[in-house]
Amino acid sequence: MNGLEIQPHALEMLELLDQMAAFTAPGSGVTRLLYTPEWSRAQFFVQEKMAGFGLEVTVDRVGNVYGRLTGRNPEKKVILTGSHIDTVMNGGKYDGAYGIAAAVIALHYLEQTFGQPQRTLEVVSFCEEEGSRFPLAYWGSGHVTERYDGTEAETCADAEGITLQAAMTECSFLKSRTDDNASERSGVRNDIGAFVELHIEQGIILEKTETQIGVVQGIVGQRRYVVKVSGIANHAGTTPMHMRQDALAGVVEMLHVLECLAREVGEPLVATTGRLEVFPNMPNVIPGEILFTLDIRHSNEHELEDFCTKLSLEFNEIAAKRELSLNLTPVLRAVPAPMDEKLYTEVEEICRQQGKTFRHMMSGAGHDAQLFAPRCPTAMIFVPSRGGISHSPEEYSSPEELAAGLDVLIAILYQLAY
Ligand code: GLV
Ligand code: MN
Ligand code: MN
Repeated sequence: MNGLEIQPHALEMLELLDQMAAFTAPGSGVTRLLYTPEWSRAQFFVQEKMAGFGLEVTVDRVGNVYGRLTGRNPEKKVILTGSHIDTVMNGGKYDGAYGIAAAVIALHYLEQTFGQPQRTLEVVSFCEEEGSRFPLAYWGSGHVTERYDGTEAETCADAEGITLQAAMTECSFLKSRTDDNASERSGVRNDIGAFVELHIEQGIILEKTETQIGVVQGIVGQRRYVVKVSGIANHAGTTPMHMRQDALAGVVEMLHVLECLAREVGEPLVATTGRLEVFPNMPNVIPGEILFTLDIRHSNEHELEDFCTKLSLEFNEIAAKRELSLNLTPVLRAVPAPMDEKLYTEVEEICRQQGKTFRHMMSGAGHDAQLFAPRCPTAMIFVPSRGGISHSPEEYSSPEELAAGLDVLIAILYQLAY
């Protein structure tokens, strides 16, 4: 397929994606952290777009935005599609936003082409999925699926010490919610009959195998921890090596063990420390305290749990040997989530009918879909990411690849709702 063959509604989706990318904090790529001014502007924009396409817009108390196309049988459960509006720091313009832009266009296209659906269709722009600002992820879909009850907002704070509750109180988008549009959507949804999320792959498999569509069979389980290691800050010139309780030296050993253990277990286990803070972070002071994160993923829950248990024992041994204190706080626990077999078989059949190449795959990235999977039939559709790069300004999928994903999304929504 070349650029000239892209359908008008797909072009409209691409334009929408460009417009959404403009809502960003300064710096390279796209940065849209939860409840920041740029995040608010993006949700206002999405809300307006939904309303402009004739969808009935509602906003829940954490800022998830829904656009509804009511079906002929409104008593039947809703078919929901969408993704998250937030990004990582200096991320790309496709992660999350693609699933929202495509969903809005898909609903508009379906209504224009086939009229009112039998089942109600809704698009959602979840407020947060990445865990980039606050040390908790899936705040949007987690609110809808009862993972969170809102009490977390009081205790959870960002790097500046602003609590999630304070950020919500200050957020211009949340302040704009009127009682009118808030009344119906207090949060938890028990009326969802199926959830479909279209997303970029964020890995290299589709590109390597020259495949257009990834049909996701499951999403890996994940654990995140914040680790605090405390020693004694002291003078770097006067403290002999054997008398130190150097927190950073201990952490270096822990991270070495983390990598060795992870390599020993092998694929598909992955383990990452992506953030590390050193206190007091001075050249002539022995580090007294370190904070770092752990992100550990595996498709098998037992293997994941075993790894975390083993890691904790090793870390404790290192801390004891070096007379350091260790505090391992779990901040995220997500079990592996299989997608609905009937639904992904239907997605495959659609790919066959549309003459698109496809393959089964596991998702190593976390997604809102994994929270819906235990509650209702859930499917994820992937399109290729150039070079397998994501969570980076370099993130890119071609217009043809994005349009192909939209075709599949439209077809599965048609099948579910018409
Ligand atoms: C979200 O993108 C994640 O997998 O961390
Ligand atoms: Mn995402
Ligand atoms: Mn992401």
